[in-house]
Amino acid sequence: MMHGQFTLSKLHIGFAEIMELRNAGYRISSQHKDGGRVYYILTNSENVSLFISGHSPKAETAKWVEVSDIHCGCNGFDEQGLRNCLHQAHEEGFKEVHLSGDLVDGINVYPLHHNNLRFHTAEEQAMLLSSVLIEYPFHYISIVGNHDRSFEREGNVNPITLIEKQINEAGGKFTFLNGFAGDLVILGTVKRLLHHCSGRTYAKSYPAQTYIRNLLDSHGENVFVRGNKYRLRFLQVGHHHTDLSFESAGIYITHPGNFQFPNDFTIRQGLIGYQGCRFTTAVIKNGQVLDYDSRFVKPKR
Ligand SMILES: [Fe+2]
Ligand SMILES: [Fe+2]
Repeated sequence: MMHGQFTLSKLHIGFAEIMELRNAGYRISSQHKDGGRVYYILTNSENVSLFISGHSPKAETAKWVEVSDIHCGCNGFDEQGLRNCLHQAHEEGFKEVHLSGDLVDGINVYPLHHNNLRFHTAEEQAMLLSSVLIEYPFHYISIVGNHDRSFEREGNVNPITLIEKQINEAGGKFTFLNGFAGDLVILGTVKRLLHHCSGRTYAKSYPAQTYIRNLLDSHGENVFVRGNKYRLRFLQVGHHHTDLSFESAGIYITHPGNFQFPNDFTIRQGLIGYQGCRFTTAVIKNGQVLDYDSRFVKPKR
């Protein structure tokens, strides 16, 4: 087998073949790289991933904003709150925003969902969020949530695909990791974004702890990203709408709140918490976290 990277055209592989692999059950991921789109076949234990920076022998600081459950397109979308938080993050020098799913509210996720919607199509919901995000010069990195996926279930486009396209075409930077879990390699450590919507598997009161315990039992803290082994050090969990930060077995876990005012559905499901996001800073050396700080930031009204 030859080593090296080839373009798809050199290998005589076209878009039709990629779709054929996907239809045959392979997990195909793609991302923008060097002006083109790169496709990967994922193994069963591999999440979609993005390499940001490798490990450093010197102590270096990584900082990022954590945002989740925006639910853009619903009547209760807290647009002003989101704008206020992004503005503050920009003022404080943050450059990266990590989004852990439910960027839009979707359609027909629950009975009478349409009563809670201001916009009903993937295009409208995506356009509204793009128009907000593009005003702030961040690199946005996002996984998908169950509400984002609801359009695909009905044969429509995934709105995050549209948001990625709209923001990148307008000169911004948005990377879509198309999975409920996505791994970011940051200074040689892994930060996992997770949209934790498989509610039946995990105890509701301690979903992240249960996830970590299951992970450690299966040695899942050793994460492979395109052939290289890293340790999982950070876990950002979306879907619960709550604000939480704790450490378990050397992994720093956060729930970063939401930007959706409560409605009849979220109250019924217990998906309620503060509007806001997290500003997180970590000092990392040789893949070890030396210092860590994550604070919840509520919008200044
Ligand atoms: Fe949500
Ligand atoms: Fe969700």
